[in-house]
Amino acid sequence: MSARFIVTGGAGFIGANLVHHLLRERDDAHVVVLDKLTYAGNLDNLAAVERSPRYEFVRGDICDRELVRGLFARVRPTVVYNLAAESHVDRSIDGPGDFVRTNVTGTFELLDAARGHFATLAGSERDAFRFLHVSTDEVFGSLGATGYFTEETRYAPNSPYSASKAAADHLSRAWFHTYGLPVLTTNCSNNYGPYQFPEKLIPLVTLNALEGKALPVYGDGSNVRDWLFVGDHCEALAAVAARGVLGETYNVGGNSERTTLEVVHAICDALDEFSPRAGGSSYREQIRFVTDRPGHDKRYAIDASKLARELDWRPRHDFADGLRGTVRWYLDNRSWCERITTGTYARERLGLHQG
Ligand SMILES: NC(=O)c1ccc[n+]([C@@H]2O[C@H](COP(=O)([O-])OP(=O)(O)OC[C@H]3O[C@@H](n4cnc5c(N)ncnc54)[C@H](O)[C@@H]3O)[C@@H](O)[C@H]2O)c1
Repeated sequence: MSARFIVTGGAGFIGANLVHHLLRERDDAHVVVLDKLTYAGNLDNLAAVERSPRYEFVRGDICDRELVRGLFARVRPTVVYNLAAESHVDRSIDGPGDFVRTNVTGTFELLDAARGHFATLAGSERDAFRFLHVSTDEVFGSLGATGYFTEETRYAPNSPYSASKAAADHLSRAWFHTYGLPVLTTNCSNNYGPYQFPEKLIPLVTLNALEGKALPVYGDGSNVRDWLFVGDHCEALAAVAARGVLGETYNVGGNSERTTLEVVHAICDALDEFSPRAGGSSYREQIRFVTDRPGHDKRYAIDASKLARELDWRPRHDFADGLRGTVRWYLDNRSWCERITTGTYARERLGLHQG
């Protein structure tokens, strides 16, 4: 049986990497991307596959009930990967409404369309169907200096973004328990790698550095995140869809805890080597400490041992190498960076919520 995938949010950062991964890994994979193309979605991310007969792009909103149901009926997906989301915490502080709409209502529409589709399936098609909801470690709130998020950690979201993702996770859980929809949920840590929109730390700092701009570090730069290479994440998603236990959640992490300042230093060091500043001084001189994000969670760290134990998945990229490769990718793809930001976003500071 060939595999038919719907990837929502497939023109975004992780979604595009997943589309490439699925088409590369399986000759019989057919991938349909459903994406609204918000500021964060970009068809340039999918240019490498646009001529593939096994790939189709559908522009649309996951909140559009008719469109989503029609798509499920036409494509008859084997696996739905739900990555469509408003994903930037700073933007959720400035405008939470879009986050509730897409992340909560959109996930509801997808789950309910999947339920209708699942009811039409029989035999091996019914056995194979999976709905994989992609979520974040931010739903667990903030850690102190020690400890890890496990699949048992209670939910304690602190930002409008993480609260909207938590709501979607609860809906996904309910569609499994109430309706028997074959749902799986993953909660991953901060991803990095090619095709990330340059509002996020690593591409933002890389591009600002090259343009001689300030490198903004929130607060004192001591907030800790667990960095996961996006290619490792895609492998985890494929493993969970193929072999995960229905109704379960899986944490995906990179075993790479770093403070923000450590990450920014590592980017500067890579750039000092790949593209030295005129005069020979380090890009570290461009670092500027700026007002912290309101409600900024102190530390996230993932215990991904369930994935290792049950599905034999481990992150394969070491942070130092993965980061250097990522900085290299942004250096080698400057025209991509310019095209996707033209006119819409100038890497300005967002999410300060003053007053
Ligand atoms: N990037 C990370 O570090 C990270 C970490 C944890 C979890 N996640 C989750 O992974 C998923 C993908 O994240 P990302 O970083 O690739 O996000 P992204 O912002 O790069 O991409 C999101 C994509 O969703 C699309 N989209 C937004 N609203 C839509 C709607 N209403 N209908 C259809 N498409 C819509 C956008 O056009 C874009 O292509 C998200 O669900 C996010 O919450 C991301």
